[in-house]
Amino acid sequence: MKVLILGGGGREHALAWKIAQSDLVTELFCAPGNAGIADVAHCVAELDILDGAAVLSYVQQQGIEFAVIGPEAPLAAGVADVLRSAGIGVFGPDQQAAQLEASKTFTKEICDACNAPTAAWAHFDERDVALGYVRDNGAPIVIKADGLAAGKGVVVAMTLAEAEAAIKEMFDGAFGDAGTEVVIEEFMSGEEASLFVLTDGENILPLPGAQDHKRAFDGDQGPNTGGMGAYSPAPVLSGEVQARALDEIVLPIVAEMKARGMPYRGVLYFGLMIENGRARLVEINARFGDPECQPLMLRLVSDLMPALMACDDNLSGVSLEWSDNPALTVVKAANGYPGSYSKGDVIGGLEEAQAVEGVMIFHAGTRPGAHGLEAAGGRVLNITATGSSVREARDRAYEAVGKIDWPGGFNRTDIAWRIL
Ligand code: AMP
Ligand code: GLY
Repeated sequence: MKVLILGGGGREHALAWKIAQSDLVTELFCAPGNAGIADVAHCVAELDILDGAAVLSYVQQQGIEFAVIGPEAPLAAGVADVLRSAGIGVFGPDQQAAQLEASKTFTKEICDACNAPTAAWAHFDERDVALGYVRDNGAPIVIKADGLAAGKGVVVAMTLAEAEAAIKEMFDGAFGDAGTEVVIEEFMSGEEASLFVLTDGENILPLPGAQDHKRAFDGDQGPNTGGMGAYSPAPVLSGEVQARALDEIVLPIVAEMKARGMPYRGVLYFGLMIENGRARLVEINARFGDPECQPLMLRLVSDLMPALMACDDNLSGVSLEWSDNPALTVVKAANGYPGSYSKGDVIGGLEEAQAVEGVMIFHAGTRPGAHGLEAAGGRVLNITATGSSVREARDRAYEAVGKIDWPGGFNRTDIAWRIL
């Protein structure tokens, strides 16, 4: 079977690397892909992956039978809908179901309808009403732009002044249309973890847990990013905590979506806040976490394709085998990320780094250049490693990081500190 992956980051490289190993796959395409993905798939740089008609036309022209959608933007744009209605198999939810990521208000309403535990919340489309609300409730409090804001539309305000500034900034258009509606939430304390669950709209298959590091610098300092590293498993997501989260959050939400005539098919990423052995929902994403997907793919023993295809059909009876060995990933980003950064630096030493035992380097933002591999994004490389212990995986990953020659990049040196 010919398969197409949409996306071009570290998550898609990890998926492509795993999918390319499947006996079911005869040819793999990835749009746009990147220089690392090009080792395992034909990269299609020119395709507009937000344009469903263009994607469908490419799929039909190539005889592709199944598409795996990596990032949220094509899901929110309805690309899965277009492919499904033409009879193409898709891993990823339809547009209506993808609202679980694209609209925070929608997700909060779903939680309320099925009693899934989450922070108390209120929705505002007027700045002065929102300001009045935070003055009444005080800090700490959380201010969120309602729409997709690339993970940057959330301010956890520890003081009232910060909360007021965030509201003013959002209504002044800092996040474009995503900020003209604002959700204000109760601040939840606890430890965060990510729970990934495959679903066909009714049946679920939970994957191992993971945790990521959202802040740019060591010690969880600096600005929020898309994620500077991740590891799996996440000890805080114990069997007991996970079972309760499946019962109280995951299954009710999956059932509520089905009851509303918008069954969710694909992977659900539940951001959880765990305190006193109980998880509450922070957010839902309609895709795999990036970089959480990278350690997950390194730990996956089974072929991934049958499970992805079953999400579009019937997932009951499908299982996946996972290695007991932990895995982690260190993100190497361009200096300046998540702010502005330059592209085009030449990166050396990757072969030596890749040769370290247990290491797999996924590319997140690279391109081939005249003088070798070039940096072409904010997050550029994901140095991923497995080992018999978290410590061994960590040491291997950092040994590989030390062999990479790229003065224009930086990485955190404390990935997995919480569990070491
Ligand atoms: P979100 O984009 O909704 O995941 O929010 C980004 C980050 O902000 C989360 O990963 C949390 O660290 C933090 N956050 C979001 N909502 C809350 C909340 N209600 N209480 C505490 N922290 C939160
Ligand atoms: N690592 C966080 C995310 O994928 O949203």
